[in-house]
Amino acid sequence: MRIAFELSGEHQTLPRSEVLGCLTSTGIPFKEIATLDQVLIIEIDEMPPIAKRLAMTHHILEVIDMCQVSPQRDSNTNMELITAMVSASDLPLGNEKTFCVRAKIIKNYTYETSTLERDIGAIIYKRGYRVNLENPDVVFRLVITGDKCIFGRLLFSIDRHQYESRRPHLKPFFYPGALLPGVARTIVNISSVRPGELLLDPFCGTGGILIEAGLTGVNCLGMDVQRKMVQGTATNFQHYDIGGELIIGDACNIGLADSSVDAIVTDIPYGRSTLYMAQSLQDLYVKSLKEMCRVLKPGKNAVIVSQIPMGAIGEDVGFKVLECHQQRVHKSLTRHIIILIKR
Ligand SMILES: C[S@@+](CC[C@H](N)C(=O)[O-])C[C@H]1O[C@@H](n2cnc3c(N)ncnc32)[C@H](O)[C@@H]1O
Repeated sequence: MRIAFELSGEHQTLPRSEVLGCLTSTGIPFKEIATLDQVLIIEIDEMPPIAKRLAMTHHILEVIDMCQVSPQRDSNTNMELITAMVSASDLPLGNEKTFCVRAKIIKNYTYETSTLERDIGAIIYKRGYRVNLENPDVVFRLVITGDKCIFGRLLFSIDRHQYESRRPHLKPFFYPGALLPGVARTIVNISSVRPGELLLDPFCGTGGILIEAGLTGVNCLGMDVQRKMVQGTATNFQHYDIGGELIIGDACNIGLADSSVDAIVTDIPYGRSTLYMAQSLQDLYVKSLKEMCRVLKPGKNAVIVSQIPMGAIGEDVGFKVLECHQQRVHKSLTRHIIILIKR
């Protein structure tokens, strides 16, 4: 089946990587068909249950058909193409079923989504199906992005409000500098960690990353050099009913056996607002990355958030860089998010 992920526009590259990381973690083979603006299309035999894990996806569709459109063409010509596609498509609806149409236009097109929904709804209606805008059996979605119009059946909508409710200052233990839960969940997913596997955050702070991992069924192991952070994370764990292990310790000297953890996801100190325990920031980065590489199993991933690019240090200590993302937080803070694999 062909699946389209309607991605959040909050970041250019992270939403796609999150979906690919989640799919990879299931072990089910899939093929990437296209990456369009805010849409990723894949081919897979059956859709794995990853919708509840995702943070930077809005909707997941089973693609019924796609057609070529162009923002340069006049809107009537595009509309004729879309109409022809919907009229000819094989609809997954019996006579008893009700439907509604929802449309999303990503950029550059002048249609009103409500007009598009009404016009396409009329075509499906003429084919003998009943409209129900309140509680339809099937929701059809039309997504216009770049030079494609995707027509699909809605499989899942992601509940993104849950991330709002876990914002750092709403947790029982709060300390400034924590990542937003949507970002924390995304980087956990990018690591391709599976439920039941062990994820280490050696700079756990208030536990924001571990909480997002724990809520997806991953086993959590947190470390921080400050006792108050470890105690605070324990309080937050209790609040969200997460049963991980927490250690007061130095990330430059992790007391774990070689190749003993399945994933590392961490937000390392930047030195500006967060305290760090090392001779210098450079020393902290080199020693902690070396330790992370030692305790990670070969072939597994580390996702590291930092304020400077860490790829060169990662390569020096035995990782291979898979991806680098940048996220501008404000004028004087750009986050670098790198994905490393232990060779
Ligand atoms: C950027 S904060 C992590 C924020 C975290 N992601 C959260 O959700 O709160 C970095 C943390 O690293 C800890 N830290 C600094 N030096 C350390 C070291 N050598 N070993 C372990 N933790 C250290 C600090 O105490 C701080 O809590």
